[in-house]
Amino acid sequence: MTGFYRQGSALVCDGVALDRIAAAEGTPLYVYSAATIAGRYRAIDEAFAGYPHAIHYALKANSTLAILRLLRGLGSSADANSGGEIDAALRAGFIPAQIVFTGVGKTVAELAQAIDLGVRTINVESAGEIERVDALSRERQTRTKIALRINPDVDAKTHPHISTGLKTNKFGIAAGDIKALCAHARGLSGVEVVGLHAHIGSQITDLDPLARAARALVGLSRELAGEGTRIEHLDLGGGLGVSYDGSRVPTAQEYADAVLPIVRESGLAIVLEPGRQIVAPAGALLTRVVDVKEAGPDKLFVIMDAGMTELIRPMLYNAFHRIEPVVQTDAPPTPCDVVGPLCESSDTLGKDRILPRPQAGELYAVLDTGAYGSVMASNYNRRLLPAEVMVEDGKARLIRRRQTLDDVLALEL
Ligand SMILES: Cc1ncc(COP(=O)(O)O)c(C=O)c1O
Repeated sequence: MTGFYRQGSALVCDGVALDRIAAAEGTPLYVYSAATIAGRYRAIDEAFAGYPHAIHYALKANSTLAILRLLRGLGSSADANSGGEIDAALRAGFIPAQIVFTGVGKTVAELAQAIDLGVRTINVESAGEIERVDALSRERQTRTKIALRINPDVDAKTHPHISTGLKTNKFGIAAGDIKALCAHARGLSGVEVVGLHAHIGSQITDLDPLARAARALVGLSRELAGEGTRIEHLDLGGGLGVSYDGSRVPTAQEYADAVLPIVRESGLAIVLEPGRQIVAPAGALLTRVVDVKEAGPDKLFVIMDAGMTELIRPMLYNAFHRIEPVVQTDAPPTPCDVVGPLCESSDTLGKDRILPRPQAGELYAVLDTGAYGSVMASNYNRRLLPAEVMVEDGKARLIRRRQTLDDVLALEL
């Protein structure tokens, strides 16, 4: 068994007791299961095994170097969304040819960095960006491989804040503009269109919109081939959503079964950019109860030492995460709002939960927080970024030390 599960009354990560890890490293603390990351990466790789594919792990989900190194060792490539993520990928040992550079607002400096390195492709998002890549490449007497991100106007049926494939979203190039842009790009000496890209959103648990986006890419690639633009690959964007509440979500195999029959007829290699699907269930945020207060006649506020500064997803997307005591008690089940310590009423980890009546000092785990957790942490209220631990081969290893106030203040002049 891998990941987070109970041995008797104690929650463990890959067999290592979480209360021992928290006693050694303090809280708030992120803990990751290396075995879960590896298992989830391999599940995708195996599902697509019969077809030419490359998995470019999306660093935005979690770019702690130890996680990147683990994934690189498994054969992953990288999807970077900023100059900083490109640098992190390089420092983790990825080579430029393994990096696709995505993002809706790449600066000229970031584009120049990617062009100088010779990344696999720059996934361009607009006519203006094609011109910028072309000009920068010509200055350097080079030709840069680009993929055009299309906005297929497909409803991903996910939370509006993480839906990206509707024409009302800021992302990509309208599908109807792609042919004219390609014709224009064929006349430019600084760019070569080698791919088509679509990413319609994150936390997608319905295969139908993903299949529709794949169909849009295949259709366009066929039309472009007829006009003389030979595409080498189709980039299907981010991965599947995960189950935060225990409900059933499609498996990697079901995703492959939904899209492969569509892309197979094109014969084109595919690029996948999963983030959440690989790392979300591989992480937990450990936090201790600071205080317990009455929230009404029969409800408690459980105030934790972690909040929106360590995990902003509940506040940002109304996201649900399971919250469990690390060591089960037989205290009576009690309705609770689990909240953070920050001066914001929306600083909540979980509303309307039933927990064994919590006590100050007890340790809790907020589960499935390996993606978009630690990477979105902030120093608001002068709070310090949490430490991170990876459990691998039965041992807990500190992979990022806790930030100090000196680290934070070192930037100030
Ligand atoms: C272009 C792009 N690729 C990949 C991803 C990763 O998505 P996910 O974590 O849902 O797999 C994102 C995230 O939104 C993205 O914007």
